[in-house]
Amino acid sequence: MSVWTRHQIFEKNSIVLIVGILVMIAFGGLVEITPLFYLKSTIEKVDGMRPYTPLELAGRNIYVREGCYLCHSQMVRPLRDEVERYGHYSLAAESMYDHPFQWGSKRTGPDLARVGGKYSDEWHVTHLKNPRAIVPQSIMPGYPYLAQTELDPEVIAGHLRTNRTVGVPYSDDQIASAAADLKAQADPDNAGAEAFAKRYPKAVVRNFDGKSGNPTEMDALVAYLQMLGTLVDFKLYNEKANLR
Ligand code: HEC
Repeated sequence: MSVWTRHQIFEKNSIVLIVGILVMIAFGGLVEITPLFYLKSTIEKVDGMRPYTPLELAGRNIYVREGCYLCHSQMVRPLRDEVERYGHYSLAAESMYDHPFQWGSKRTGPDLARVGGKYSDEWHVTHLKNPRAIVPQSIMPGYPYLAQTELDPEVIAGHLRTNRTVGVPYSDDQIASAAADLKAQADPDNAGAEAFAKRYPKAVVRNFDGKSGNPTEMDALVAYLQMLGTLVDFKLYNEKANLR
């Protein structure tokens, strides 16, 4: 009996064929899944990634609440046109503290994964209040009320704690100081600014909305946008990876 004749056993008997298919799929599945049980993490560690500050986290919550993800993605794909427009393609580690992630699949507006530092705070405040003040043909909605709505510093510790339950490494100290840190980051004259900088090295302390008084939702959202894509130093990363 040649190989081809033996194959007729499968072709003439559907039950044997089904069993054969199941065995093949199970084998393929095991080959893909088993290694994952032996890996500590599927995300490569990258220097510079840190949990979001309380103010940035508050901004991220507003981003999700307002549905910015419906028009904006936060993932630069590893394709030439993307990299030339937005910068280095996104790394898995860059969204490791996002619960849920904001990769998105719709780009009515541009990708925001690397928007941090691209514009001034003032640009963002003006644009968020009324996008048409900057881009006359923009179809993005305005969010003027963010500048008038103060944040409630008391609720932020709960958000840090919730993130910790899903794996973000916030320390007890960071959770206990969350309300104070939220205020300190939006006010360079705040007495707590130094302690804040120790808890979140290299985080930017600025009066993001340009207004005096308690931090607003505008402070939080702009702090979040200005941080996006800036945590990983790609000069170092490219040297290490021996690129460029
Ligand atoms: C209806 C779709 C839509 C929604 C919702 C939306 N945007 Fe936009 N966004 C756009 C479009 C279109 C542009 C490009 C024109 C412009 O700059 O206004 C844009 C531009 C931007 C830019 C400038 C990006 C760049 O690189 O030039 C930022 C920042 C931004 N949006 C942030 C936000 C934030 C934050 C939210 C949620 C509070 C949001 N957008 C909600 C459509 C949207």
